[in-house]
Amino acid sequence: MPHRIGVLLSGRGSNFEALADQIADGRIPGAEIAIVISNREDAPGLARATARGIATKAIPSKGLPREAYDMQVVAELRGANVDLVCLAGFMRLLSPYFVAAFPRRILNIHPSLLPSFPGLEAQRQALEYGVQFSGCTVHLVDETLDAGPILVQAVVPVRDDDTDESLSARILAEEHRIYADAVRLVLSGRYRIEGRRVIKLHN
Ligand code: GRF
Repeated sequence: MPHRIGVLLSGRGSNFEALADQIADGRIPGAEIAIVISNREDAPGLARATARGIATKAIPSKGLPREAYDMQVVAELRGANVDLVCLAGFMRLLSPYFVAAFPRRILNIHPSLLPSFPGLEAQRQALEYGVQFSGCTVHLVDETLDAGPILVQAVVPVRDDDTDESLSARILAEEHRIYADAVRLVLSGRYRIEGRRVIKLHN
């Protein structure tokens, strides 16, 4: 049985497409994207998924309490037999209910070297702080924003002439690479977790 991935997104969906490309090229063995779900009907990522023939579902969150919303999303993921959830620019905090529904099977990507610069506009935060290196992080999701054990990180330099856009683009290229690395790692099962540490197993 292939591993069925559910992708959650709110925006353009370039990380989703990077995962879909790697799967199509056979670089994430045993994986398929079962469904792409968005809280925004107009998310470009949904149209990108449809164009690839991948099932999509818009579940608007307006006016719903967090857990009631999450129950709808979890039901949709279960209906699609999803066993791994990838957040890819999904602009919502998950409830404890959601996290417990997929224990250690929810991944998120964030455009900074966590725990630096969690939250919105991480690239701008890094520029304004004046760090000389930033990067991106794929981590397991818990109920806390941009927390949870770190699976993979990548470092990028910050240049003197960087703008928010140029730094974001440099980080994004690494995001597309390491998200697939993290999915491969989790699907392989070749790691164990000690406290916050993800220890990779080499046979
Ligand atoms: C990425 O920078 C990701 O790290 C952050 O949101 C952005 C989503 O971009 N969580 P995209 O929709 O995958 O292009």
